Amino acid sequence: PESIRSICCIGAGYVGGPTCAIIAHKCPEITVTVVDKNPIRIAQWNSDKLPIYEPGLQEIVMKCRGKNLFYSTNVEEGVVNADLIFISVNTPTKTYGAGKGRAADLTHVESCARIIAGCASGYKVVVEKSTVPVRAAASISEIFGANSPAASNFQVLSNPEFLAEGTAVADLLNPDRVLIGGSQTPAGLEAIALLTAVYSHWVAPERIVTMNTWSSELSKLVSNAFLAQRVSSINAVSAICEATGADISEVAEAVGRDSRIGSKFLQASVGFGGSCFQKDILNLVYVSECLNLPEVAQYWMQVIVMNDFQKSRFAKKIVSRLFNTISNKAIAVFGFAFKKNTGDTRESPAISVCAHLLEEGARLNIYDPKVETEQILSDLCHPGVCALPRERIENLVTTHADPHSAAANTHAIVVLTEWDEFKTLDYEKMIKSMLRPAWVFDGRKILDHERLMDLGFYTECIGHRYQRPQFYDHCNGHAPELLFSEKSKAFRAS
Ligand code: NAD
Ligand code: UDX
Repeated sequence: PESIRSICCIGAGYVGGPTCAIIAHKCPEITVTVVDKNPIRIAQWNSDKLPIYEPGLQEIVMKCRGKNLFYSTNVEEGVVNADLIFISVNTPTKTYGAGKGRAADLTHVESCARIIAGCASGYKVVVEKSTVPVRAAASISEIFGANSPAASNFQVLSNPEFLAEGTAVADLLNPDRVLIGGSQTPAGLEAIALLTAVYSHWVAPERIVTMNTWSSELSKLVSNAFLAQRVSSINAVSAICEATGADISEVAEAVGRDSRIGSKFLQASVGFGGSCFQKDILNLVYVSECLNLPEVAQYWMQVIVMNDFQKSRFAKKIVSRLFNTISNKAIAVFGFAFKKNTGDTRESPAISVCAHLLEEGARLNIYDPKVETEQILSDLCHPGVCALPRERIENLVTTHADPHSAAANTHAIVVLTEWDEFKTLDYEKMIKSMLRPAWVFDGRKILDHERLMDLGFYTECIGHRYQRPQFYDHCNGHAPELLFSEKSKAFRAS
């Protein structure tokens, strides 16, 4: 065809949903159908309450839905009617067999390839939107070749997605780059041109980067690995700051001012989460191991090791500051999503921090403006997350619809997501309802700690150690973690 008139996207998730809404919005002459095997998800996309929260998305979906944007469970029909098919299904870390815990599970991608091979005919551009290991497009082509007589008319492209959750609409409307990989043959270049024409409706030509398929696939894994590596690097330094009196925000400012380094992605935190970073680094580690490059694999693995260290370091600090025992103590948790402006909890650092606190016997009052109670319970009760049985977890966890009720009668507030609203809460009112000493543990370094201390809070945050004179008075001059430890008994006896 001279141009793409109809698009089908398999997978109505965090990527397929927003991406297709923007394409429909920017390309009124293209019919966009998003298909998914999950009928609940499709019903939600067709309802007033969309299955995912992204600022600005609802308006765009409402504008296009029923005009040139459709959601359906009929995958075959969507595929048959499309000139271009996005495969935008989940590619989680494998939980079984070879490469378990590291390799990407390509079951869903392969099943899409088989569905397409089974029903499509004529010319089709098949676009790998899912994040996949390098050379996955070759497997898709092979499945087409072996299963479909029409396959010689199918062109497979790689077009990885770089949107971040919470800013998906803005990222899609104004991408740093759109990456399209394809085979460098006349037919491959023609397919690249067709997909380029779709994006050209709103993306400037210099931002559309084309290259060979394998480079494109690998670039996606490497981009996420670099981003996560920055977070782990600044988090590693945050531990040094807490031990020395340096302030991680000042260090990040000084380092980020170097234009070769840049200032973005240097916010120290309780650890990175989200469905991509860990999964894609593990994928890169596995690819490196398979290529017999153990040093390369180890190098990237350390990014995850550091992230796990950061999460457990923070959880252990909470226990230590609360006099080494939190059994039956109530603790308020502010934020459960993996970052602000999303309701997504996949790999959220909140999950492992909360699991640690629950295993120590704490009662948790959890508040998040976007995450539903069932999601929180299902994350915490997921096998392998927390050592306690489900009934015990359900007993210890209460979710709250507002932060004030979550904080009442607790020993501590633990901030795990950087929601803006946490910065402007009435902490003066809150501390009056809390037990003393009242603690704030700021896992995102977003609160005004000087003010919190003026109000009477004891505070700890990632990447900076605040002086607490009154606290040390209270503890008789000893650091609190020493008070009830063996070391401190020896110290007091001496
Ligand atoms: P998701 O789990 O939100 O959505 C995937 C959807 O695909 C699900 O609704 C599932 O039911 C559907 N699906 C799976 N197999 C199917 C089949 N055979 N037929 C029909 N539907 C099927 O996943 P996501 O977060 O949108 O991620 C999709 C891909 O994009 C992944 O490879 C991911 O790594 C990548 N990615 C994600 C993000 C992100 O921010 N979430 C960003 C960039 C890239
Ligand atoms: C990421 C990539 O940014 C995106 O390009 C890719 O397409 C998908 O994966 P996402 O996981 O949605 O996007 O969010 P991102 O903003 O990258 O944050 C990931 C995690 O890192 C979050 O938990 C966030 O809180 C944390 N983070 C990020 C930090 O702790 N510090 C930072 O400076 C930046």
